[in-house]
Amino acid sequence: MHNAAFAALGLNWRYLACEVHPDHLRAAIEGARAMGFAGLNLTVPHKLVALDLVDALDKSARKWGAVNTIRFEPAGVDGRARIRAVGFNTDAGAIVAALRGDLKLELRGAKVLLLGAGGAGRTAALRLAAEKVAELFLVNRTQSKAKAVAAEIKKQFPSVRVTPGYPAANVDLLLNATSLGLQPDDRLPLDKRHFSLNRARAVYDMIYRPAETALLQAARKAGCRTANGLGMLLHQGAKAFEIWTGKHAPLDVMRRALEENIHG
Ligand code: ATR
Repeated sequence: MHNAAFAALGLNWRYLACEVHPDHLRAAIEGARAMGFAGLNLTVPHKLVALDLVDALDKSARKWGAVNTIRFEPAGVDGRARIRAVGFNTDAGAIVAALRGDLKLELRGAKVLLLGAGGAGRTAALRLAAEKVAELFLVNRTQSKAKAVAAEIKKQFPSVRVTPGYPAANVDLLLNATSLGLQPDDRLPLDKRHFSLNRARAVYDMIYRPAETALLQAARKAGCRTANGLGMLLHQGAKAFEIWTGKHAPLDVMRRALEENIHG
């Protein structure tokens, strides 16, 4: 999506994917800085470690406690070229942009069942709480993690009702932030004895490949509005593009590139 966007804007830039061992993350960031890269994206398992490896954190990275985007920028006033690395988080905002864009959801006052309390689930829970959802139900295989996220929300967002476990009533949104669904023989990420999909108005799966997970297929059949995680991938990328280039991201071009390359 980035290379398509560079081409659309006539920028002679390139986006490259490199696999980096966690032990070498510091050296990789230094290497990119030394080679004059404009910036980096980081993904699993680098997003937390990078908090300590950059020179400064944007408020987005401080607030959400993870770095998925780095911008290298000139710093210093003594005339000597010094390039500092600034860490940003574009994942958290992308959750809201995707839910609004793809599901036309009003999050303020909504009731949400969130599956998963790993890195993505925790960020989603905090971001939804910041949007002032009315009620959050948190379900995770390892219950202690759901409880820890619930405690964090109670502390930071006391007006949001947060309950570990399944809801008894209907919800506006069911959001899957677990990795269940990535593999073709994965079971559903929810326990149908505790929650039936016709009790959710909309279902969002953060997984984007396959385009329709078993969860989304079951949700569509149950009459829910559905969307996969492509929109989140798109919006975190578009924001990173704007951070690096200072230009407005061509969203349609980027979306088309993603659809062609991921689902095409
Ligand atoms: P990410 O950064 O994508 O969130 P993660 O932090 O490893 O990755 O989180 C993965 C999520 O998927 C967690 O909620 C995890 O549940 P646990 O916290 O109990 O590990 C969930 N998950 C992964 N495999 C699972 C499985 N086989 N059954 C149920 N949940 C699973």
